[in-house]
Amino acid sequence: MDMQDNVILKTEKLSRHFWGLVALTQVDIELKRGEILGIIGPNGAGKTTLINVLTGLFPPTEGRIIYEGKDISALPAHIRSRIGIARTFQISRPLVDLTLLENVMTGALFARGLTCPQAIKKASDVCGFMGLQDLDKPVSKLTALEIKKMEVARALSTDPKILMLDELMAGISSDEADEMMDLINKIRGQGISICVIEHVMRVIAALTDRVIVLDWGRTLAEGPYAEVSHNPMVIKAYLGEDA
Ligand SMILES: Nc1ncnc2c1ncn2[C@@H]1O[C@H](COP(=O)(O)OP(=O)(O)OP(=O)(O)O)[C@@H](O)[C@H]1O
Ligand SMILES: [Mg+2]
Repeated sequence: MDMQDNVILKTEKLSRHFWGLVALTQVDIELKRGEILGIIGPNGAGKTTLINVLTGLFPPTEGRIIYEGKDISALPAHIRSRIGIARTFQISRPLVDLTLLENVMTGALFARGLTCPQAIKKASDVCGFMGLQDLDKPVSKLTALEIKKMEVARALSTDPKILMLDELMAGISSDEADEMMDLINKIRGQGISICVIEHVMRVIAALTDRVIVLDWGRTLAEGPYAEVSHNPMVIKAYLGEDA
């Protein structure tokens, strides 16, 4: 086994351009097994683009994505989901005509190819794990917190090895964020490696082992949050003096 075996996912000079706009440029990151990695940086820094490219929503313009030692840069999103890469969306888009359970089942059905009864079982289990009740509730009756938990449950129902969470804490209260942090730690306890994008620095400080700071599509800094938060470049670009 090579020295990189503790790295589950890495990028090599990953870039993504949108016509003239450079959303990501030459980004090298590593996600270690069992780690909670924070991705922070100002609006438009390229955080969501990074997740979109990693999950295969669109291909990189340049560079490579290596997952468990294999180059997955050209694999379509549904295959990446099948091999263990899951995410939630910054703007959640639940299937509003379906129930809570049915939404969660979509992960198990499409990524795992389970039969319907198996998918019901899988979805019920992950909903239980996430503390979700009333699984027959229509999505329109759910609270903001329940919707967020449902999104995570849907991702978990694919049995991922990696979970990427894009601004999960936006739009929920501080107490709810605490509850969500406990759940994220519990997910890590299952051996899943996690990337969290957050603007809530209290959450980043408490939850992550390490952070990567993006700015204008580049890696500005990386390291433990306690260290990075004192980096003058990070303070200037993102955190401000009061961090
Ligand atoms: N599909 C797209 N088409 C064109 N431009 C895009 C697309 N997606 C992102 N961009 C641009 O790429 C840059 C990075 O956007 P991105 O959404 O990755 O930022 P972000 O770090 O997630 O910001 P935020 O904190 O506001 O969510 C922005 O300038 C954005 O307008
Ligand atoms: Mg974003």
